[in-house]
Amino acid sequence: MSIYTKEHNAFKNFNIEGEVLNLAPYGEGHINSTFLVETTKKKYILQRINTIVFKKPENVMSNIILVTEFVRNKGTLTLTVIKTNDGESMLRTEDGCYRVYDFIDDSLTLQRAETREDFHNSGYSFGEFQNALSDFDASVLFETIERFHDTPNRYENFLTAVKNNKSGRLDTCREEVKFVTDRADTYGEIVNGLNEKTIPLRVTHNDTKLNNILMDPVTRKGKAVIDLDTVMPGSMLYDFGDSIRFGASTAAEDEKDLSKVHFDIELFKAYADGFCSAVKDSITSKERELLPYSAYLMTMECGMRFLADYIDGDTYFATKYPEHNLVRCRTQFALAYEMEQKMDEMKKIVDEIFLS
Ligand SMILES: Nc1ncnc2c1ncn2[C@@H]1O[C@H](COP(=O)(O)OP(=O)(O)O)[C@@H](O)[C@H]1O
Ligand SMILES: [Mg+2]
Repeated sequence: MSIYTKEHNAFKNFNIEGEVLNLAPYGEGHINSTFLVETTKKKYILQRINTIVFKKPENVMSNIILVTEFVRNKGTLTLTVIKTNDGESMLRTEDGCYRVYDFIDDSLTLQRAETREDFHNSGYSFGEFQNALSDFDASVLFETIERFHDTPNRYENFLTAVKNNKSGRLDTCREEVKFVTDRADTYGEIVNGLNEKTIPLRVTHNDTKLNNILMDPVTRKGKAVIDLDTVMPGSMLYDFGDSIRFGASTAAEDEKDLSKVHFDIELFKAYADGFCSAVKDSITSKERELLPYSAYLMTMECGMRFLADYIDGDTYFATKYPEHNLVRCRTQFALAYEMEQKMDEMKKIVDEIFLS
């Protein structure tokens, strides 16, 4: 027996074909524990779900089943949940919650875009995912992480952190705090639009990183969008904006040298081009208009969360040194500032994409 006895034992409870030949850790995911299992017949992915992040994994699985069944019926390649022998979508054991997917073979996972084309292709894939779900009733999904992108609520929490100054660090970040409070009237547009129904409620993927797309190893075009743990009701603008936030930056999220941190408008264009061509038939004019703003908003939201956590004393994000969250918020604010300067240029790019 291998060292992965627990995983072997868990796997035996699923409705699988063949006998297990090999079971080993797989991929570079940071949330769940992922294993590739090869049997005499097929390959599978076994995952132990991170139940610290996902407190109610049964709700996560319910969302995944609903979404994958819907997109599969549209002919889109997606994850296939393999049920347990009891017909359940996951297995609870003493050491955690397990689930099994069919392994999607002949695919490439990139950890980051190597070329502008890769980023364009990821935009197309996440746009395709949005488009396939455009007539899905997102209100049937669980909100597995409450108020995930409720920016006004994030801002309220930020103000509470400032008020309490738990870490006593407030004096070291007054300028950054002012950057956030100066923009207080810009945070509500998407949440208000959703509440007033001028922006449609849609399925949001909420983790639109490149390594959550399985790509064709030859064409490097997306084959399937995976990692559906954070699918929730929301706005397509959240996915678009967050992709730009981390994908159109010229530096890492925790780069200390701000002279290296820029918002790359060419990368914005590449992603927008891919995303928009996939959603052109389902996006509303209001959503279209707010695409550039969504990038700014997601960047500000992320920055204020880093800053709030710094002021709280690093209770949420893992940090490697005391100023880590402060460094992180600064990169976000540098990007948001450049986005503000380039807002008209971004709008022009989006308009041109839809004209062509
Ligand atoms: N069904 C699948 N077929 C092929 N590879 C997969 C499949 N599911 C996951 N993977 C691989 O495992 C990695 C981690 O899985 P993911 O669900 O993204 O976990 P995490 O939530 O930890 O990021 C992915 O980046 C991908 O390379
Ligand atoms: Mg992942």
